[in-house]
Amino acid sequence: MINNSLKFTVLQLLFGFIICANTISAQITIPIATRDNAIVIMTDSENRLRTVYFGKSLQNESDYATISSKYSEGNKNEIFNSTYTPSGTWNLVEPAIQVKHADGNSSLDLKYVSHKTAQLDSNISVVSILLKDPIYPFEVTLCYKIWANENVIEQWTEIKHKEKKAVLLQKYASANLYFSDNNFYLSSFHGDWAKEMQPDEAKLVSGIKSIDSKLGTRAMLWQSPNFMVSFGKPASENDGMVLLGQLAWTGNFKLDFEIDRHQNLRLIAGINPYTSEYSLLPNVIFKTPSLIYTVSNQGTGEASRNLHNWARKYKVLDGQGERLTLLNNWESTYFDFDENKLKDLFKDAKELGVDLFLLDDGWFGNKYPRNSDNAGLGDWQENKKKLPNGLGYLVKEATKEGIKFGIWIEPEMVNPKSELYEKHLDWVIRQPERPEIYFRNQLVLDLSNPEVQDFVFGIVDDLFVKNPELAFIKWDCNAVIYNAYSAYLNKKGLPQSNLYVDYIKGLYKVLERVRAKYPKVPMMLCSGGGGRADYEMLKHFTEFWPSDNTDPLERIFMQWNYSFFFPSITVDNHITHWGKQPLKFKIDVASMGKLGFDIEASKLNEKDKLFCKQAIENYNSFKDVVWHGDMYRLVNPYQSDFAALMYVKPDQSRAVVFNYLTTNRFNIIANPILLKGLDPNKKYLIKELNLYQGTTSSIAADTVLTGDFLMKVGFKPNINAQRTSVLLELKEVQ
Ligand code: DGJ
Repeated sequence: MINNSLKFTVLQLLFGFIICANTISAQITIPIATRDNAIVIMTDSENRLRTVYFGKSLQNESDYATISSKYSEGNKNEIFNSTYTPSGTWNLVEPAIQVKHADGNSSLDLKYVSHKTAQLDSNISVVSILLKDPIYPFEVTLCYKIWANENVIEQWTEIKHKEKKAVLLQKYASANLYFSDNNFYLSSFHGDWAKEMQPDEAKLVSGIKSIDSKLGTRAMLWQSPNFMVSFGKPASENDGMVLLGQLAWTGNFKLDFEIDRHQNLRLIAGINPYTSEYSLLPNVIFKTPSLIYTVSNQGTGEASRNLHNWARKYKVLDGQGERLTLLNNWESTYFDFDENKLKDLFKDAKELGVDLFLLDDGWFGNKYPRNSDNAGLGDWQENKKKLPNGLGYLVKEATKEGIKFGIWIEPEMVNPKSELYEKHLDWVIRQPERPEIYFRNQLVLDLSNPEVQDFVFGIVDDLFVKNPELAFIKWDCNAVIYNAYSAYLNKKGLPQSNLYVDYIKGLYKVLERVRAKYPKVPMMLCSGGGGRADYEMLKHFTEFWPSDNTDPLERIFMQWNYSFFFPSITVDNHITHWGKQPLKFKIDVASMGKLGFDIEASKLNEKDKLFCKQAIENYNSFKDVVWHGDMYRLVNPYQSDFAALMYVKPDQSRAVVFNYLTTNRFNIIANPILLKGLDPNKKYLIKELNLYQGTTSSIAADTVLTGDFLMKVGFKPNINAQRTSVLLELKEVQ
């Protein structure tokens, strides 16, 4: 029998040995390198991990080790470049991780133990670095998935412990990056309903700039988890070093940009710790969401193309596949429709030439019919008055008409005026003792509860089981979380502070089940507009709805901002009654992504109808270039009176160029626009598309120019007050 003090001495000796072993171990260098850039991590004399280099990748792998000789550790009690900063011990700045151990102690130190690299194929590798606390059985693995050719890194951490009881994770960032340079410029994006993705760029100054969300669901309504950091000067499209990043998490997030006292930048990104202390049981791995980033030395244009290529190839569901053009009924009917009206709309869809009809909100609820947004949400049975023959009949009728059929759901939500609310009050997120607070007259279901997960999965499953030909789902999410409280967590004796995290994990579980059973069906991610758009969701969704604001002038700017982070194949653009611009302008803008219509097509005059049909045919002929090609932002509407963007087929045989007048000044003198991404040695025939019948283009029909000329001298699309939108097609000719 050893008594307690002897035990303590043995432990002390043991830990002493570990510390000593760590201290004398050789310095370790770990490069996290893509084709063009590298982050270099190194152990210091105390065996802590420091980020010592961020910049262009080196030609010789072995040279990374010599970075250590150029690097001075400085004051050991002031570590700003820790690769994952713990709290409660030596650290005096913003931590990446903060915990309360099972015994109530709040100190944490993390020392390097080992690392390994798994080469998944010639392009993809995963580096994982194991860190452990020398005193507590608590460990963190830093993981970096690297796509070398696309210059993309996905970074996350896995946290685990073997303490006697649960450990409270008070902060648990996904990434803690360090950049030593001078002058960092941050572009962030804020918004609101119909005003999504409004950019701000500012030089980061001493202190912390935080961007976060506390909304729970619809989390990106006010702030976006997408950002850009430009090094040395404000971000520019074609030169300079820039990092584009996104925290791929659909719930509350927090991005901290801290300029430390050496004028270096510490970036800490992760789930928002706000009221989210997470209780982690022993031997359970807590995996944080990923921070996804790409770095380019040639400006935002190349950085976006990096991300687009990566997203299409590796992340977005069916990113390299096809998409369905559609006619949606939301803005033409709102809640006011019946079977006959819908059948007429099927005809309109067919006549226009789109692939699918999408039935929006309002098709369900009987005791509380969904005739406005204040009733019926949660009761997913067809409304017998509007749809007496059910959805199955509609699907058949659409098929007879020669189009596919898709449907809107908002499965995470409930109206208090619903049978679901009456039956399952305990499934609703609400404070039992306080008055309910509504967002769009509705409340959020508690997805931390496995029964609610089953219910939500069941809504989708039931639709597909009953209607196997259903071809599309629009998954909406219109409310934020007020009165965050889970009856389920309470019943299970789990802390309420798990709710925000367990909600999103529950949502992901449901989507994994949906995708296991229905791997391919296209689904649109919608959140009352663009309140949700992240790559963790886009693993399950083929596309997203950027905003209810479809005014094409606004959309030029909004789509411009989304285009930094998302390839156009993921961005749904509909032509609606929003905006005063001509129909042509609207269709051209919507064609820079996945085209859809939400209009009363039968009310179009013959000329417009004909134009729409022709424009859809044109779109079908070039959509492959827009969806799968390389995008070049040519003229920035924030800096001039125009906007111009182009998409080039990867083999450079074809391109489409979109040009818009974005101000209403009349005396515009437009210089030639320098095109990009073409083959200088190829000759291109230039043709203007989407012209009204009887209109002739001011661009000569037989214009042939070389790629070299077009990229050096440029081309004038002749935009003016009469030609506010000009769509050009370039085709290689011999
Ligand atoms: C919000 C969406 O953004 C709209 O497109 C529409 O689907 C409505 N919800 C329906 O309630």
